Parts: sequence; C-alpha cells; structure tokens
Amino acid sequence: MTERSNSWLFRVFSWLKLDKCRISVHNARMSHAQRAQTSSNGCFVRAYAKINLTLDVLGRRSDGYHALATVMQTIDLHDTICLTATDDNEVQVICTQPELNNDENLAARAAQAVRQCLALTQGVRIELHKRIPMAAGLGGGSSNAAAVLLALQQWWRLPLSPADLLSVAASLGSDVPFFLTGGLALCEGRGERVTPLAPYWPMSMRWLLLLRPAISISTAAVFRDLPASDYTDGTHSRAVCTALSARRKPQPENLHNGLERSVLERYPTVAQAREALLQAGAPLVRLSGSGSTLFAPFSELACATQVQHQLQAQGYEVDLSRAIYPDAGVCFF
Ligand code: C5P
Repeated sequence: MTERSNSWLFRVFSWLKLDKCRISVHNARMSHAQRAQTSSNGCFVRAYAKINLTLDVLGRRSDGYHALATVMQTIDLHDTICLTATDDNEVQVICTQPELNNDENLAARAAQAVRQCLALTQGVRIELHKRIPMAAGLGGGSSNAAAVLLALQQWWRLPLSPADLLSVAASLGSDVPFFLTGGLALCEGRGERVTPLAPYWPMSMRWLLLLRPAISISTAAVFRDLPASDYTDGTHSRAVCTALSARRKPQPENLHNGLERSVLERYPTVAQAREALLQAGAPLVRLSGSGSTLFAPFSELACATQVQHQLQAQGYEVDLSRAIYPDAGVCFF
C-alpha cells in the first residue's frame, strides 16, 4: 500500500473510532478530495419517528453504555429533509427549530461523516422541517441522521456498502442503525445490533395516541440514574418477538420499558400525563424510549380520537399515529 493510501486509511479509521467502525477498503479509490457524483440539484427525504414496544436494560457495560434488548417500530410521524448542493466546502443546516441550527445537529454530523470518510469537498445545505419533538424518546435526531446517510448514498452515488453505512450510523448514535431500515426490529448491544422482524402489527394496536408531556428528558441522564434493580434479562423483548413472529398480540406485561418506572418517579409531569391518559379511557399506556412521550394503542379510531379530544381539552399535546414500513422514499428534483 502506498504512503498516501496508508495516511488516508489512518485518517478515516481514527475519525470513525476503529472499535466501532470498519469502512471497507474499496473506498480507497475515492482517496482524493472530489466533488460528489450528482445527477440532480438535490432531494427530499422523510425521516420517521419510532416507538419502543419493549426496552429491556440488561446491565451497564464497561464503556459506560447500557446493554439493551429493545423492540422498535417506525411510525408515520415524520420530519422532512431537503438536501441541496452548495459551491462551498461546507455543511449548513437550517431547521424550523432554531436551537437545532448548529454543527451538533445529527443530520449535519451525518453529512460531515460521509464527506470526511470519503474525502469529499462537495458542500451541502440541509433544510430540516421538524415535526418529531426533540428529547421525546421518538428517535427524531437519530432518524434525521439515518435519512441523510441514505439520501446522500443515493444522490451522490457513494461507494459505501450496507456494512459501511451501518458503521457510520453506529458512530453517530445507538439508534441510528435501526433507522437505516426501520419497520419492526429487535435492537441489541447498545441498540446498534439490528435484527429486522417480519412485519406484523396487532389489530388491537392499529391506532397509536402519542402524548408529549411539556418536558424534555435527557437520555443520558435517565440511563445514568437508572438503578440496577430496574435491569431485566431480556425476557420481555424475547416474548414480544416470539408473539409477533407467530402473528399473535403480545401480553401487556411484556410491553415493558425498563426506563419507565424511574422516569415516572423522577418526572411527575410524565406520571400525571400517564394518569390522565388512563383516566380518559386508554386501555394501555407506555413510555417510548427514555421519554417523555407516552403512547397508548387503540383498536378503534373512534375510541382513539375520543381520548385524544378529551386530553387536548385538558391542554395536552396529543397526536394520532400508526405503525409504518417506510421505503427508501428519496425524491429528487
Ligand atoms: O448513543 P446515543 O448518543 O444516542 O446515546 C445517548 C446517551 O444515552 C449515551 O451517551 C449514554 O449516556 C446513554 N445510553 C446508554 N446506553 C445505551 C444507549 C444510550 O447508556 N444503550
């Protein structure tokens, strides 16, 4: 190998943190800085939210993350992202939520990741229409990152294999790999080991009410404060996978979120919102991820909207949603 390609590999691997990411050597052919191969001015892509049907926290790992087994499903609540080419060597992000207009935005970091990884000088502007609430347990930032990776892969015809994309995604956040495929999946490790499950969603959960208490919750803080007594051995997630693969409705007690008890205890606003949902007639209420969003499944639209209107009258922000299997959905212009 030449000295030049060696130094390129060193830069790529050190940036991606070797322990997490293994970018294929075939990218070496893109070792010189270059403009991206584009055939259009830009593209739109949707970034869908998720809910956690289960979340077993298995224990704390030596790297500070927690080992998880979680069953996730994408839902039809989505952000819209528009990517356009710019002449400068920059990644710009312009978001409908001004507090996200910075380089830490995961969508911007995803674009920087592929540019640096392949030494691309092509600039890109990311316009981000947010609908998924932030710090809400719905995976909005992670979904934005995955959508940018998938869109750039198609638009710029990047020589990244699925394994390469997974590595880049995992370097951006634990939930990002899930959003590369979405649908229904079991996620293990710190969340980045994704096993897609055959699509099946119980009739009794056809309609999902999403209630967003007026509070943002830090995922890092929830995991940091979680007592070991809330750890489980993965039984709930395994049972839900078994039920869904047999096209059976999971037992309510297996729709378990190991972060929920602690979040309800520490954030009374979330506990009150949960109580309000139950009082209004929701048969089942669960926390999504580390919250603060609560979801309540319904089999009938009429029942769901009745509960929705009752809670909206009490001042709660409540959306109606459903499970969805997104396709790549990149729309060029
Ligand atoms: O991976 P991500 O950056 O989304 O995680 C945010 C934070 O949540 C981490 O910094 C970590 O504190 C916590 N976390 C964890 N175990 C996981 C996933 C996240 O402790 N499996």
